[in-house]
Amino acid sequence: MLSAQDNELLTRVGPGTPMGELLRRYWTPALLVSEAPTPDSDPVRVRLIGEDLVAFRDTEGRLGLVGENCPHRGASLFFGRNEECGLRCPYHGWKFDVDGRCVDMPSEPPQSVFKDKVTLKAYPTHESGGIVWTYMGPEEHRPPFRDFGTETLERELVSATKLHTTCNWVQAMEGNLDTSHISWLHQWDGVDQIPDDGSDKPGYPTNAMSWKFWRHDRAPRLEIEDTWYGFKYVGIRETPAGHTHVRMSAFCYPYNTVIATVPFGTQHGLFVPADDHNTWRYSFTTRDHGDIAEVGGENLFALSPFEFGPSEVDRNGIIPRRYTAENDYGINREEQRHLTYSGVREFISQDFMVTESMGAIYDRTQERLGTSDKAIIRMRRLLMAAAKKVAAGEPAPAVDGGLDYRSIRSAEKILAEGEDWRELGTDADPMVQRYDAGSVRTPVAGS
Ligand code: FES
Ligand SMILES: [Fe+2]
Repeated sequence: MLSAQDNELLTRVGPGTPMGELLRRYWTPALLVSEAPTPDSDPVRVRLIGEDLVAFRDTEGRLGLVGENCPHRGASLFFGRNEECGLRCPYHGWKFDVDGRCVDMPSEPPQSVFKDKVTLKAYPTHESGGIVWTYMGPEEHRPPFRDFGTETLERELVSATKLHTTCNWVQAMEGNLDTSHISWLHQWDGVDQIPDDGSDKPGYPTNAMSWKFWRHDRAPRLEIEDTWYGFKYVGIRETPAGHTHVRMSAFCYPYNTVIATVPFGTQHGLFVPADDHNTWRYSFTTRDHGDIAEVGGENLFALSPFEFGPSEVDRNGIIPRRYTAENDYGINREEQRHLTYSGVREFISQDFMVTESMGAIYDRTQERLGTSDKAIIRMRRLLMAAAKKVAAGEPAPAVDGGLDYRSIRSAEKILAEGEDWRELGTDADPMVQRYDAGSVRTPVAGS
């Protein structure tokens, strides 16, 4: 439970709010590269951390991210003409470059120097991993770009998507971090029929067996370890054969999650606020893990009744939503009785159904948290403490350029006697070393 005051502190991100100022200390996804793919392509509306912006790629390929409203009399530059290295307002023709300088003011007399006095809000941009990142905080605090592994990614491996969800960013992120709901919300009855393939033993289970474990022990015990980037934690479950199965996920300031995967994961899910009531859920690939999925064996997702789409993206690279509150997320009550726990076929919409139905900003004075909510409690505490520190003039956590952001990983495994989950997914983990050395190129399911 949070006090009403803390709930406000945690969730509100507009300019001037403590949490908004914390988020502005990090490079933040603003849009997908595919939304503004080529020089002089169409301008794009960007609503980000409560600010209305417009992105455009100029004739020379530079990506500008500027205030949406023209500093003359406020017309939206989304309707502007993207031409000859600048965005020209359609109202009176004032033109701005990617740095926000007014480079032409044709509605004033030719001898006027007024244009030299007019600027448009502009934020720096950096393209990496298929995402255009920006920094919206004070210039004197601008940190180096954090490389989660995208800076050296080969072009054909670059993959990023985003999905819109109609609730507050913390609420959406809580849903992703929550390890216990996989035993409930995402279950279906066919899991019981999955044959035991022998991987219920210390080592890496197949994905199919993981589903069985999640269903077998539906009240995981949580253990948390604070780290320099935030924290990592495990949900501990007993397997049918009596072994200890752990799912380890990581939280990195301010809104990154790396969710448990067999054998380990480096894919980031980011919960970026468009504003207090809307969130962009970004996902991106960080490096070449080649056949990492083979370690988990056949992926049960393919055997399940769930829909894992739509994997197609629209012309801007955004994944469209088929199921929303308006169509009750496609819930089928018959299937809820006899097939799936949620009654919703599309996997991601199962999550949206629960996190959006809490209300745009859930009133956390009403909640009753249990032991399975420990990680969510930790995440909130860390964020609120960091926001207060920044407000008091201290630096934001995990922005240092010398830190190894590529080392943030998740993991999933059945522990051997005496094995410590805290080693999983670290540079010391033999499986990580084998992948990073490129030596794993054959399936090792169950090893
Ligand atoms: S409002 Fe943009 S040029 Fe006048
Ligand atoms: Fe989920």
